[in-house]
Amino acid sequence: MGNYSLFMSLPSFSSDISTLGIAGSGIMAAGIAEVALLAGFDVMVRSRSERGATELVAQVSKSLGRRVERGKLEIQVRDEAARRLTTTTNLGDLARCSIVIESVVEDKEQKTSLLRELDSVVPTGSIIATNTSTLSVSELALATMQPDRVCGIHFFNPATTMPLVEVIRPLTASQSTIDVAIAFVAMCGKEAVLVRDDPGFIVNALLFPYLNDAIKMMERGTASMDDIDAAMKGGCNFPMGPFALLDLVGLDTSLSIIETLYAASGNTADCPAESLVRLVADGHLGRKTGRGFRTY
Ligand code: 3HC
Repeated sequence: MGNYSLFMSLPSFSSDISTLGIAGSGIMAAGIAEVALLAGFDVMVRSRSERGATELVAQVSKSLGRRVERGKLEIQVRDEAARRLTTTTNLGDLARCSIVIESVVEDKEQKTSLLRELDSVVPTGSIIATNTSTLSVSELALATMQPDRVCGIHFFNPATTMPLVEVIRPLTASQSTIDVAIAFVAMCGKEAVLVRDDPGFIVNALLFPYLNDAIKMMERGTASMDDIDAAMKGGCNFPMGPFALLDLVGLDTSLSIIETLYAASGNTADCPAESLVRLVADGHLGRKTGRGFRTY
């Protein structure tokens, strides 16, 4: 197992060194699971429902299957990776994981109570990470009894493709927690950047004001949605325009990030764009629901 050496220098860490735990079953959880499986980790995913677990497994195997179809993955490697994925509805089953990443909905109450529960089941010596987009990692860490082992490990969407992962260092985290998080990210084949626990960290703090402004620009009538997307692709060489990206990320997640940034700045210019708020209220959350700014 490629991750063995990671823990060799950290004797206080759990003796079971091969299993990544993921709490959650959404797009990000599935993407992180796939990345870790391909990096050689055993992955145990905890979903609250059997249905969530089944959907996650289906999503991962579909994505691995696409790699095989495109000639990027051997069938045997796919089968071997798929065998290392297990799911559970029982949070206690994550007790044998050396690292647990929570990747549930971007809601402070839910993340706080999940981290508290994880803290009680995951053994001392294992680290607990949150994939939060913008919530304060320090506040989440302080909800636990062992805040020194909590940090942020923030993947980007689609996690299988995006090379960057932000490692967020709350004031409470020990240096060994951060070292393990950075080493874990490297073992996943991703590039880690270390960030202080400021709202939006690096990427979302810069990206979401731009996405919010793009919606407001469309609302003002400066240009159409298609032309704004075309302009940012053709004029800046961005891989996709702002509306396509909002629909990819998910409008509920986007709104939550923009609201957090707005609360942090207190500047009315940062308030969420009206059409974003309306689409979320109507349940149009982007690609994942088949409709967002566009219909899929
Ligand atoms: N889900 C999973 N994988 C996807 C995907 C999706 N929706 N769309 C594309 N991919 C994968 C493909 O399988 C392919 O993988 P491969 O290289 O292993 O074969 C790779 O991405 C390239 O795909 P394509 O050639 O079909 O398509 P593009 O070249 O158009 O790339 C893209 C698609 C990677 C999504 C590209 O448009 C892109 O990079 N967009 C920007 C994404 C971005 O900015 N993400 C960050 C969002 S912010 C965030 O995540 C923070 C969070 O807190 C909200």
